[in-house]
Amino acid sequence: MRETKTTIKDIAKAAGVSTTTVSLVLNNKPSRISDKTKEKILKIAKEKKYVPNKLAVNLAKQSSSTFGMIIPDISNVFFAELCKGCEVESRKAGYSITFSSSDEYISTDLEYVDTMIANRVDGIIYVSSSSTDASTNQTICQKIHSSQIPFVVVDRPIDFPYAKSVLMDNEVGGYIATKHLLELGHQRIGCLTGPMQSDTSIKRLSGYKKALKEFNISFDNSLIREGDFQIQSGYDCLSYMRGLGVTAIFCFNDMMALGIYKAARDYGLKIPEDISVVGYDDIFICDLLDVPLTTVHQPAYSIGRYAVQTLLSLVRKDKNVENIVLSPSLKVRASTRRF
Ligand code: RIB
Repeated sequence: MRETKTTIKDIAKAAGVSTTTVSLVLNNKPSRISDKTKEKILKIAKEKKYVPNKLAVNLAKQSSSTFGMIIPDISNVFFAELCKGCEVESRKAGYSITFSSSDEYISTDLEYVDTMIANRVDGIIYVSSSSTDASTNQTICQKIHSSQIPFVVVDRPIDFPYAKSVLMDNEVGGYIATKHLLELGHQRIGCLTGPMQSDTSIKRLSGYKKALKEFNISFDNSLIREGDFQIQSGYDCLSYMRGLGVTAIFCFNDMMALGIYKAARDYGLKIPEDISVVGYDDIFICDLLDVPLTTVHQPAYSIGRYAVQTLLSLVRKDKNVENIVLSPSLKVRASTRRF
């Protein structure tokens, strides 16, 4: 038969004190309760295997001490690193954090937001799915704002007046990647974007175009192919790009660059001898490859920590909480060579 859970009332009865006294002792609150009584209460609680009722405690505190985070794809190492930074910073501040991965479906974002609001999380960190559009983003942000739960938009920009954000300058990222290849003498540079509904992809492509213009190379739309941030879209694009005579490919994330590596292996092509490749994110795998990947570095772990620090400021109702925009850098490794 299942043991009944020990309550504060049971402990008070056994100790011959009030439930208030027991609560003060178990929550280590300042009081004038004698050490003898404290020891007695703690001893009974231990003997009776007392476990605090978290729901009741949260209700009393009007706080769940929990943050919620929505990410597009937890299987992508970039987001795993981002989550890790959030988890470490949340734990330092006494919060737990739940992660919900939407698989890049914006409808799932909406479901998760409803769940987090219903669970009264203390704050939300939101990376929107790329399958979104401006009005859906507004709907989701307005829903969170109306719930009065503080939230921070991370990595994928959303133009919403009440949200604070921690973002990267994606145009700079696209520019430095493309400029690197141009400086190596490449002129036909294939570009494998992420989903083009996402502002992330739009800004990276803008950086690509800016670099081409600086080197007086006309933009050729046939060299642009839309990917989905997954390995397979990288794999599928290699033969298409080779057919167009490109000598280098700039991928809008490392997972797609890994797909190109796999296709090059299957087709008997060599990187960078036959094709130079640049990725984006700088996940830890880049450095472990037989031909380490040149890529645009995004400090995912630090972005996660900054996101939680910003959220904590909002929870504390600090004044003048600033948006953060970080600049990416290029990590040149062995996957690019002079043409
Ligand atoms: O790898 C996933 C991509 O989507 C990253 O470049 C990140 O910036 C996110 O927006």
